[in-house]
Amino acid sequence: MKISILTLGFGLLTFIDSTLAYPGIRNTIREIEKRVAQTPPDGNNDGSTPPVLIGDLKNGIRTPVGQTIANILLKTESGQSSEAGYTPPIIGSKKCKQDTCCVWWYVSQALTIIFKGPSGRCNKNARAAVRLGFHDAGTWSQPLADSGSDFGGADGSIALSSDEINRGENNGLQDIIGKMKIIKATFGVGMGDLIQFAGIHATVTCPLGPRIRFFAGRKDSSKSAPNNLLPGVNDSADKLIQLFQDKTIAPHDLVALLGAHTTSQQFFVDPKRKGEPQDGTPGIWDTLFYNQTMGTGPLPKKVFRFASDIVISQDSRTKSEWVQFAGPGGQSHWNDDYAHSYIRLSMLGVNNMNSMTECTKVLPAAQSTFKGAGELLVEE
Ligand code: HEM
Repeated sequence: MKISILTLGFGLLTFIDSTLAYPGIRNTIREIEKRVAQTPPDGNNDGSTPPVLIGDLKNGIRTPVGQTIANILLKTESGQSSEAGYTPPIIGSKKCKQDTCCVWWYVSQALTIIFKGPSGRCNKNARAAVRLGFHDAGTWSQPLADSGSDFGGADGSIALSSDEINRGENNGLQDIIGKMKIIKATFGVGMGDLIQFAGIHATVTCPLGPRIRFFAGRKDSSKSAPNNLLPGVNDSADKLIQLFQDKTIAPHDLVALLGAHTTSQQFFVDPKRKGEPQDGTPGIWDTLFYNQTMGTGPLPKKVFRFASDIVISQDSRTKSEWVQFAGPGGQSHWNDDYAHSYIRLSMLGVNNMNSMTECTKVLPAAQSTFKGAGELLVEE
């Protein structure tokens, strides 16, 4: 430890930001129900491409943790867990050093300070952390790996390489990367793990967000990830679906991941409308984003819908899943699917899953209710 937890806490407190709120009027739930009624039943096995194993698990499942991760990737085991009750040894002690999860408990305390806004919603640091998790891990592709370029992915290179931070697609992530560097230096954890832990921690910090299982042990790399593997906001549905399929992320899993825009705000797509959210309840992990992207019912003037989200909400390969997330029961279906899909994303490029350690028990508890969430409330 280079600085004390207390010092870090006070330092991090200055990062706390307030979140936006857009209270409003009741939307057209009947329209959503009508659409759901027209959609074939789905369950959680989405009828999408069957999931495949990735990384070292393709060459053999050799350990109990490897088996657990394989089960999650193949969706035969939940990607969420409420496992808790962990009391860590004192940080810096021999006992703490011997326990892989110990340091993550302390990291978790620091992240709670910087991710939670005064209203109880997740704040801009949390939102940036979710996006950072995607932008680090998403720079990997199975075809590229098969052709000998098996690098990129969840390896921390977005923060450790000299140039990724300056790529246009990473605009807006510089501040959260700076915070990650401080936390890494303070606690001595790996950057690849820290970025994924922060993304998962941020998600459960958002009211209604799933408590996604976390596995530690990624290998860091300062080698720049391959270019052109992150999506563009004006890409066609074909291009987006192919791009994610190349990451072994099936179309229905893409729909689940895009729900992260439930918390988000845009700054660079249209700078004149900077700060505008992608649904009426930024900072809450509800399904309003799915409803409002489809344009069912009145849309608050401040909601800025991404062209990429709209094309995926309308494409024949993804629309049924989109509609289901928007409809009754959509929240738990989406949380289940998001957890599975995010764990897959967070393991892209990871070739030592058999030797990772599960540390889900250090995460804060999920919050399954929040005033104003999921009520289809929007304001004109
Ligand atoms: C088709 C795929 C995707 C596209 C085209 C896309 C595009 C974008 C764009 C253009 C922004 C706004 C950046 C800005 O102007 O400030 C954004 C923000 C965001 N994205 Fe995505 N995204 C995609 C997938 C994802 C995924 C898979 C995740 C996470 C799992 C994610 C999480 C976020 C978050 C949390 C923000 C908000 C960041 C903030 O508020 O600071 N996105 N995305």
